[in-house]
Amino acid sequence: MSKKTVKFGLVGAGTIGKGVVDLYKRNGNLINKNLDFNISLEKVADRDQERLQALDLEAAKLTTDAADIIDNPDIDIVIELIGGIEPARSFIARALENGKHVVTANKDMMARHGQDLIDLARENTVNLFYEASVGGAIPLIRPLKHNLIADRISRVLGIVNGTTNYIFTHMAQDNLSLDKALSEAQRLGFAESDPTNDVEGLDAAYKLVIMAQLAFGKKAEFDQVYIEGINGVTYEDISYAREIGYTIKLLAIGEDLPEGLALRVHPALVPLEHPLASVLNELNAVFIESEAAKELMFYGPGAGAMPTATAILSDVVEAARCIQGNISNGVVEKKLEETGFVPIGATEARFYLRFLVEDRAGVFASLANAFADERVSLDMIIQKRSVGDLAEVVLVTHAVKEEAFQRALSKVTEISAIKPDPSVIRLLN
Ligand code: HSE
Repeated sequence: MSKKTVKFGLVGAGTIGKGVVDLYKRNGNLINKNLDFNISLEKVADRDQERLQALDLEAAKLTTDAADIIDNPDIDIVIELIGGIEPARSFIARALENGKHVVTANKDMMARHGQDLIDLARENTVNLFYEASVGGAIPLIRPLKHNLIADRISRVLGIVNGTTNYIFTHMAQDNLSLDKALSEAQRLGFAESDPTNDVEGLDAAYKLVIMAQLAFGKKAEFDQVYIEGINGVTYEDISYAREIGYTIKLLAIGEDLPEGLALRVHPALVPLEHPLASVLNELNAVFIESEAAKELMFYGPGAGAMPTATAILSDVVEAARCIQGNISNGVVEKKLEETGFVPIGATEARFYLRFLVEDRAGVFASLANAFADERVSLDMIIQKRSVGDLAEVVLVTHAVKEEAFQRALSKVTEISAIKPDPSVIRLLN
């Protein structure tokens, strides 16, 4: 008996789109060998003819009009890879309303409008798949939805941005400044020519919102995420962190606290013995703490055409299975509860602080008083090198509420012997 065919179309033939086509050409037979039906690429749309030609597909499969896919009654599944909010959101909505399953890698859109689109998918008894939106090839969305459905997750810690992980790795390994490490990442193709979203932490924040909702089953808003990028971190900080047993990573942290969700993205000192410390270069990892499974780490390439294409084609297969099995809403989507959110000021952390002080009597005493006034207890004080008549001081606090630390920090920076712009980095606890 001949196998049935489920047809899919692709909107957006950029780097990832081309990766999907290349992987399908290379491994389509392998995928279909394992299924009771075939998946088949029907059409690719892109406004750019050159991109279409680069796919090396027969002309009948190429179009410059996305409507040839979104409104095509022969196509069952639409892959959206144009990125950004519009027209991606409208295209996805139209495809869902047309009764098509949709696969997307669009993290900005899933973080900002994902719930509305998931609701729209339900109304139309189809599904929206987004495995590739976080962590590229790393299986993460499906494990959070399916494999861990019987568990209660308390904390998610992610290195979910490859650009910044590459930068920190090479600042540490090659003694580079942040700017030099970024240029190197761009030269080698690990960073975009405009890396603003990566360096400023926005990319990681989008991914955190998507993960947090699935991990905790609670509504999270992008605007609730405290975001601090990597620009303030220097080579000296990385070097001193290592001396005291830490490495520095940009972490996306989600916690399910009794008062609500605490969501933040910032550079953090990670103990060298923590599994996340061994995640180097452009690789990503997500560390999950939960009641039953205890600790899990998901690790792998978080970006790149081929790694991301594996996640996208696996979603196409999931969508095709729903169609073949006649399963409407065959994907578990968490029923999100409304919850409070915990602002950064109400969270607790230990802090690393590095600054220059005039090297004279009484400076440490005034420093100690500023911290004591706010009941900030110090765990470590190290006087580092002298630069002329200035001494460099590194200190680490015990765990303290962020707002108390910030009040103490304001007092510290008012001390005339202390030079402005100290480095302040939280520790992972
Ligand atoms: N620019 C991202 C990164 C990849 O550097 O990890 C896409 O999300």
